[in-house]
Amino acid sequence: MKTSPSKYGNTLEFGHWIGGEEVWEGKALERRNPSDRSDVVARFPEASKDLLRRAARIAREAFERWSRTPAPVRGVTLLNFATALTREKETIARLLVREVGKTLKEARGDVQEAIDTAVFFASEGRRLYGQTVPSEMVGKELFTFRRPLGVVGMITAGNFPIAVPSWKIIPAVLTGNTVVWKPSDDSPALSLLFVRLFEEAGLPPGVLNVVFGGGGGATGEWLVELMDEGLFNKFAFTGSSAVGRRIGEIAGRNLIRPTLELGGKNPLVVMRDADIELAVEGAWWSAFATGGQRCTSAGNILVDAPIYEEFKRRFLERTEATVVGNPLQAEPVTYGPFMNERFYAGWARHYEWASQDGAKLLLGKGRITAENPYPHFKGDPDAGYFGWPTVWEAAPGMKIFETEVFGPTINLVRVNGIEEAIIAANAHPYGLSSSIYTNHRGWAYLFKNGIKAGMTSINNSTVGAEAHLPFGGIRASGNGARESGIWVIEEYTYWQAVNEEYSGRLQLAQMDTEYAQAKEPTDWSKTLGI
Ligand code: UN1
Repeated sequence: MKTSPSKYGNTLEFGHWIGGEEVWEGKALERRNPSDRSDVVARFPEASKDLLRRAARIAREAFERWSRTPAPVRGVTLLNFATALTREKETIARLLVREVGKTLKEARGDVQEAIDTAVFFASEGRRLYGQTVPSEMVGKELFTFRRPLGVVGMITAGNFPIAVPSWKIIPAVLTGNTVVWKPSDDSPALSLLFVRLFEEAGLPPGVLNVVFGGGGGATGEWLVELMDEGLFNKFAFTGSSAVGRRIGEIAGRNLIRPTLELGGKNPLVVMRDADIELAVEGAWWSAFATGGQRCTSAGNILVDAPIYEEFKRRFLERTEATVVGNPLQAEPVTYGPFMNERFYAGWARHYEWASQDGAKLLLGKGRITAENPYPHFKGDPDAGYFGWPTVWEAAPGMKIFETEVFGPTINLVRVNGIEEAIIAANAHPYGLSSSIYTNHRGWAYLFKNGIKAGMTSINNSTVGAEAHLPFGGIRASGNGARESGIWVIEEYTYWQAVNEEYSGRLQLAQMDTEYAQAKEPTDWSKTLGI
């Protein structure tokens, strides 16, 4: 790695990391600080398809040894990794603020989520239980063992550049797989650091390989296509539903079960009996944390009619106080810039859809610039892409009601009663996160049973999942695969059923089994005279 001074820290120049070595090969790309685009954070190369193949072959060679390393020993590597991440937490968090534009508080949370995941799975290396199962025959025993799948291809988004890769990489390597990972081009430096810390922790070369490429470009596509060449046994992806469907198709024809963590249009319901102050705070955070650039960000706030006007007034008051700006400045901000120009352009487009649909704009004026100032802005708005906190009054059926918009925008929607709230909460294609604010236990019960979502909060925001609960969605939000906690282990292992014969004879199941024979039945009603 080469370094040279830049505005907010060094510019880092590095290659891919394959087989424990830096590989400088491919057209040069760069990552600029999204809060101040004059600051170059990283220069890195774009992998060719051939380089991806090489990385996959090296991962295959590494698999031979790594899969035979005892799981408790693999787990110790994770404990070392957790220790290294903890030691470097502050440095990584600061790089995270600079490279993707999160606030320091959120950046620390992102790193902590990976530490928690590593700690959780470190001891899982001493469990990774299989079962002993009774046989139907004497002198025979049955067992199940978890076995690793092989080489895993991974593509991750940049909005959780440390946490989300950790959800995939940590369980994958703990269970004995090896990895070729293409991180987002929004977070190359963080990804390299992630891999370097893992190797420092004792992970053998070739177990975790990182290959870089442009956003939405050829490298990701090529990596996915390697499934057709038989180079991967598993594919894991976090990103858009459109790309997820394509990966699912290619995985399907190769009989690979992918992990697909896709978009969301997460509903947050506020019922008439809710603690309004709590609901306003939770709704505001769900909408604007990370500038709305989470797959768990709220998309629609469905407010019960009797409190609609009051909620709207208080929510707008809270939102108008949102502080936006460069998170590297001393003054704290709620959210920073769009992570990249593509996300900004997608968000800018939703203003057109909303007006075509007749949604009413309650707050927001598009991009924040020196000419289009936002009253609570910190820093130079023209140095990056920053968006006004935007609030619409919308209704089911509108495009902005049904389509994920990755950015600081939210729809307020009036509903009447719990039944209507649940119908509206499901009236979009996704099924990731969901939330209800109510103190009525019956309504909370109806909501958690009626909502179609992988995750549900009661009196809490739609974001902020903990590292040891299953994370994932249904419908357009994913294929049902789960990340985090013990559930993710299913995604990176297969079950091997083993039987061992001790009798010294060829005993045939079902045929040589001595099933108990039922006797002649007694007619009990006759005997008892009833
Ligand atoms: C994502 O946006 O892809 O639950 C992940 C949350 C975070 C993770 C979000 N812990 O909001």
